[in-house]
Amino acid sequence: MSEVAKIELDGKVYEFPVITGTENEKAIDISALRSKTGYITLDIGYKNTGATQSAITFLDGEEGILRYRGYAIEEVAEKSSFMEVAYLLIYGELPTQKQLDNFIQSITRHTLIHEDMKQFFEAYPSKAHPMGVLASMVCSLSTFYPESLDPNRDAAAKDLTIHRLLAKLPTLAAWAYKNSMRHPFMYPKNDLDYCSNFLHMMFAMPTYDYDVDPVISSALNKLLILHADHEQNCSTSTVRIVGSSQANLYASISAGITALWGPLHGGANQAVIEMLEKIHKDGGDVAKFVAKAKDKNDSFRLMGFGHRVYKNFDPRAKIIKKACDDVLNKLGVQDPLLDIAKQLEQVALEDDYFKARNLYPNVDFYSGIIYKAIGIPTDMFTVMFALGRLPGWIAQWKEMIEKGEPIGRPRQVYVGETPRSYVSIENR
Ligand code: SDX
Repeated sequence: MSEVAKIELDGKVYEFPVITGTENEKAIDISALRSKTGYITLDIGYKNTGATQSAITFLDGEEGILRYRGYAIEEVAEKSSFMEVAYLLIYGELPTQKQLDNFIQSITRHTLIHEDMKQFFEAYPSKAHPMGVLASMVCSLSTFYPESLDPNRDAAAKDLTIHRLLAKLPTLAAWAYKNSMRHPFMYPKNDLDYCSNFLHMMFAMPTYDYDVDPVISSALNKLLILHADHEQNCSTSTVRIVGSSQANLYASISAGITALWGPLHGGANQAVIEMLEKIHKDGGDVAKFVAKAKDKNDSFRLMGFGHRVYKNFDPRAKIIKKACDDVLNKLGVQDPLLDIAKQLEQVALEDDYFKARNLYPNVDFYSGIIYKAIGIPTDMFTVMFALGRLPGWIAQWKEMIEKGEPIGRPRQVYVGETPRSYVSIENR
């Protein structure tokens, strides 16, 4: 006997099916609510609303669990590579060696961008935020590959569109940085792996090579894995709803990049470092800033703290915090901001305000410390988040397209003016 939920409205009882996921998550399927009752639900910010049934990523916010296609984040962060995790998220299974080699080879072949796109970069001011450049450039890819405009082409055509984007995003990201420095663009090198190639394009110059430190490329590989997907977060939901109108992949991902930019979402990693620098400059009085974060009359928030889903430690934050110590020790970097971050975490976690609201460090709290140690500038931190999240966005878009989900179109409760007659301007 399948489970049902009963809702009593205006003296009548209605039944709606209960959906149970493979991890025993429960949902009430209210697809027929309006047609049966005339009512809709209201859930500002979709805090209690499921938009889809997905097989890609599982989160348990209470237990601090995160799994990609069933594999624990702790395992894949330790044992896998970003390219292998990208394959897993997009195609659903860990690849064989041959599948992985073919996947990497296809991506390696497409790392160049059309030479005409270089002019776009040169038109941006040097102070242009790289997220604005990246979002525009990704959408512009659709103008150079018109075959990508149809999201419903066969698997081979869809794979080519997907591989082109995975290949070109690091190039676009690195060139956005080079352009901001007014440095010459560095072209990708096919003999380098994904992370090393990105670091080469970021930091090499025509007059000298950049010797990739294995400690840095390994840390970057781990950071990208940790950011690769996170079920229906703000930017992923944006990708899915834009893609649900049958807009092409590049336009959908461009919208996701734009959503990620916000300081409450992916932009938090940049905001965390700016916050830590402000505390450091102010003399490092951590308790003062924790008090500001608790003060309702003060707009200051502890950036990198709190999460819509995790009401326990964000498992990614734990892994990144450990990686921080490893990378800074191996690089011989002493960063006072790391000490401030650790003090901030300790004070906040012992404070009733944060405990009562289940506010813990999230993925953005420590990641900027490592990016800074690698030499990546602060305004490129959210670009790094986008690089990591790309395979997740693609996997979620592909799942939505292949399931033939309908165009997303939420309803509303109207609270505006009731009918009134037009008044000519002389009588207003
Ligand atoms: C990401 O969704 C995802 O999965 C996102 C992400 C991913 O991988 O895609 O995990 C990546 O976006 C991580 C979050 C990065 N953002 C930040 O670090 C910004 C700082 N955090 C917050 O702004 C906040 O915690 C959110 C936006 C992350 C979550 O906000 P919610 O779920 O809407 O919760 P809320 O704003 O309603 O806060 C509940 C209470 C409020 O206090 P009361 O009104 O109950 O008194 O907690 C307080 C808030 O004022 N609060 C904070 C706080 N975060 C929440 N108070 C101080 N500092 C904070 N950081």
